[in-house]
Amino acid sequence: MSDNVGFAVVGVGLVGPTHARFIHAAEGAELKVICDLREDRGKPLAEKYGAEWLTDFREVMKRPDIQVVNICLPTALHLEVATAAAEAGKHVIVEKPIELNLDRASKLIAVCRRNGVKLASIFNRRFVFGTRRAHDAVHNGELGRLVVADMFFKSWRTQEYYTESGWRGTWGKEGGASLINQGVHGVDLMTWIAGPVKRVQGYARHLRHDIEADDTTIAVCEYESGALGVIESTTSVYPRQPDRIELNGEKGTIVIEDYKIAKWEVDGVELGEPSAAELARPGADRGTAVGHFLQIQDMVYAIRERRDPVIKGEDALPSLAVIQAIYEAERTGQPVEVRQPATV
Ligand SMILES: NC(=O)c1ccc[n+]([C@@H]2O[C@H](COP(=O)([O-])OP(=O)(O)OC[C@H]3O[C@@H](n4cnc5c(N)ncnc54)[C@H](O)[C@@H]3O)[C@@H](O)[C@H]2O)c1
Repeated sequence: MSDNVGFAVVGVGLVGPTHARFIHAAEGAELKVICDLREDRGKPLAEKYGAEWLTDFREVMKRPDIQVVNICLPTALHLEVATAAAEAGKHVIVEKPIELNLDRASKLIAVCRRNGVKLASIFNRRFVFGTRRAHDAVHNGELGRLVVADMFFKSWRTQEYYTESGWRGTWGKEGGASLINQGVHGVDLMTWIAGPVKRVQGYARHLRHDIEADDTTIAVCEYESGALGVIESTTSVYPRQPDRIELNGEKGTIVIEDYKIAKWEVDGVELGEPSAAELARPGADRGTAVGHFLQIQDMVYAIRERRDPVIKGEDALPSLAVIQAIYEAERTGQPVEVRQPATV
């Protein structure tokens, strides 16, 4: 009998196929089931990987050959499906954002903990050379104390992207729009690299799309370290501009553009370069997709080694706390203190 870890991907719209591809590529992993309500999405993908196509996620949870469920569904469904998985003893990999808000995210984390299953939260953009190198430069002191930490994520989505999905752009099913869907990647990187955000002031408006929630969000942040910075997240800027992060410390400046180091001016410190092994990893040819591969592979090793995944459920809370605070700042017109994970 094979001792491979059996996986199911639930939801194969935009991002689910990436999970399927990397489960197929991962050592010790076997893709058993693709679950999607839509035949045109689920069936061909299942056939491509020799997996079975199911439409009801409850059926997935009954399968003894599945140990891990990858949740790639609209955000408001993450809690329900993760609960079903955890209660059936399946480990969970959940796409970003983990859920609509901190309360639902905390429930999702708690149900996994209660049932003793592992929970990995996807933040694939932490795994490329540029973001990791910047993180290390801040955390090992190469950049000195941070003074300014900024993120500019100015992207473009069509009106159809929102209208045809049936869930994007709505408070009820997406929990927001540009900031919580696209911006969450950048906010995660900022809290990971620059540390906890203490307080925010901001605006979250829709300026170009006919949607309920934000397509243009701009906030000012005060980090717990004392550093200041801005968070900009849009789906209203045409054409899309490279995702940019700027870090200004006492000893220099680092600028990241589309996850590559665009500027490295750090006193007396060499940038270095990614290793050959790193460049040869599945997904490395597609930039930040390598993170999906590494997080899926990591789940297999975490199961074998009886340890937590490299990015756990709790690690999704700091960015969600900042996002929730920015939306509250828009609603109240006041600066908002960020709820820190320990108090979630
Ligand atoms: N990490 C990344 O780079 C990345 C990229 C895109 C999306 N995401 C995240 O992934 C999640 C999914 O986003 P998407 O853009 O792929 O969504 P999508 O709407 O393109 O796909 C969702 C799929 O789920 C299916 N579905 C809906 N309800 C279902 C149910 N009850 N049972 C089975 N299938 C069901 C739909 O038919 C659809 O195919 C979101 O949380 C999103 O934020 C992450």
